[in-house]
Amino acid sequence: MTSLNISNELKTLAKSQNIENLINSEPNRLNNFCKKIGDLVFDFSKSNISQSQLDEMIEFSKTKKVEEMRAKMFNGEAINLTENRAVLHFALRNSSREWSAKGSSQSEKMRKDMEIASSFAQKIYDGTIKTKYDAPFKNIIHIGIGGSDLGPRLVYEALKPFNHDGPQIRFCANIEPTEFKYAIDGLDPKETLVVCVSKTFTTIETLTNLNLAREWLQAGIGKDDMAHLVAISAAPGKAMAQGFAQDRIFGFEEWVGGRYSLWSSVGLSLEMAFGRKFMEELRNGARLMDEHFESAPINENIPFIGGLIGYWNRVVLDYESRAIIPYAARLKLLPQFLQQLDMESNGKAISRDGNDLKYSGPVVWGAEGTNAQHAFFQHLHQSPIITPLEFILILDDGLEYDASRQLTLANALAQSEGLMRGKSLETVSQEMRAKGSSEEEIKNIAPHRVFSGNRPNIVTLLQKLDAFNFGALLAFYEHRCFVEGILFDINSYDQWGVELGKLIALEINKDIENGPSEKRDLATKNLIEIIRKGK
Ligand code: F6P
Repeated sequence: MTSLNISNELKTLAKSQNIENLINSEPNRLNNFCKKIGDLVFDFSKSNISQSQLDEMIEFSKTKKVEEMRAKMFNGEAINLTENRAVLHFALRNSSREWSAKGSSQSEKMRKDMEIASSFAQKIYDGTIKTKYDAPFKNIIHIGIGGSDLGPRLVYEALKPFNHDGPQIRFCANIEPTEFKYAIDGLDPKETLVVCVSKTFTTIETLTNLNLAREWLQAGIGKDDMAHLVAISAAPGKAMAQGFAQDRIFGFEEWVGGRYSLWSSVGLSLEMAFGRKFMEELRNGARLMDEHFESAPINENIPFIGGLIGYWNRVVLDYESRAIIPYAARLKLLPQFLQQLDMESNGKAISRDGNDLKYSGPVVWGAEGTNAQHAFFQHLHQSPIITPLEFILILDDGLEYDASRQLTLANALAQSEGLMRGKSLETVSQEMRAKGSSEEEIKNIAPHRVFSGNRPNIVTLLQKLDAFNFGALLAFYEHRCFVEGILFDINSYDQWGVELGKLIALEINKDIENGPSEKRDLATKNLIEIIRKGK
């Protein structure tokens, strides 16, 4: 078969097949669907796709030219066609290789920029660069939003327990004013470095918070606050226009998309807090996944398999969302990070060549297990709406393996098995009978206790939560997102969909000040008036 025909028959067949039967009947299923790389295990075996269907998907990916597009990406062609940009964030994870973007060599400048930024960060980390008061910085306030926030914040929260000997980081993203108040709560400006991160240096949230931070700094250390400020941007000129000195601005290239920018100087606060070696480990782990993604054959290629199954779930099984459930409190921000990565990348209506799309990437949501079990797992187990799940498990989180860890792991596996297996009416009835329920009770109650099962899920297990393994995990998601994007025929690297709201917000801000303009709709006008009366 050269191309997958996504007919109604195929959809009906796929929806009617039973995952556990596939696991039991397909001789090599665990070998073929459960893959290991370094310290990471990706178990796709509880997906509702047979071996032969996965083989067809592999053939299908060839008709979609996923491998050719991958080569174009790694060769620095402008695959982000609406912005005429190459996509090369992974170059930052392998800076000794020669890279070019749109035919022009990047490596030398990249290496130089990385070295300048890294040695600055190292000096903040070890206290060589000091405050105006000749003391090491104790705190960093990292101001930035979206891709300029989520990656660094996620990594910080995930890994700080093991690495934290530099300054502490507080993050400030939201324009809503309590965010800044919480960020500075208890901090002394005399001991604090403000790191302002914005690829464009035009983002209203970030610039507003930067102003608040400068007022706060100036109130604490005087007008000359630049010694306590750093800017990170791909538009250094704009940072300079805000008063930042050249040697306090750390740049990165336009081929690093915001949601892929953790690996660039956007991650510099992490390097200031955790040191150079930490960032190297994070990047090295990601490089392991990059090299695997670039070279492994499709049927062994973990991001490829993940992407093929993601597409299958969305298009063949018609599942509209995916839930990310890390069984680790430290990874509780992972769903948010993946929301931006997947939804900003693949939530589009137009194909790469400008046609209307029937399918785009799924809605991504989730929360940490086990808390999530006590919040929304009811829906996941029994609602007719089926949501594929992605469990992330940590075997060694640096603490002693104890009863709590084991129960955490047991809970994750229990959910994974329970969602797949379900529980039949017959079993429920038998159990109720054995406990002495009357036939009348069984008739009325048993249907409520049935689990239809056959709900797909992926289990990813990290043997150890450390910078290297976490880097590899995040790179997996980036590459899977690429594969899904190509299968959907989407340009995953632009984000025009965020522009409309930004423009209207500026207008409405004026309307709240001066009264609603005639162009507002009636409902919005009404709300503006209510706000104007109440403010
Ligand atoms: O929300 C849109 C967006 O452009 C994201 O893609 C980006 O990560 C975020 O805003 C922040 O942008 P910047 O880094 O330019 O401030």
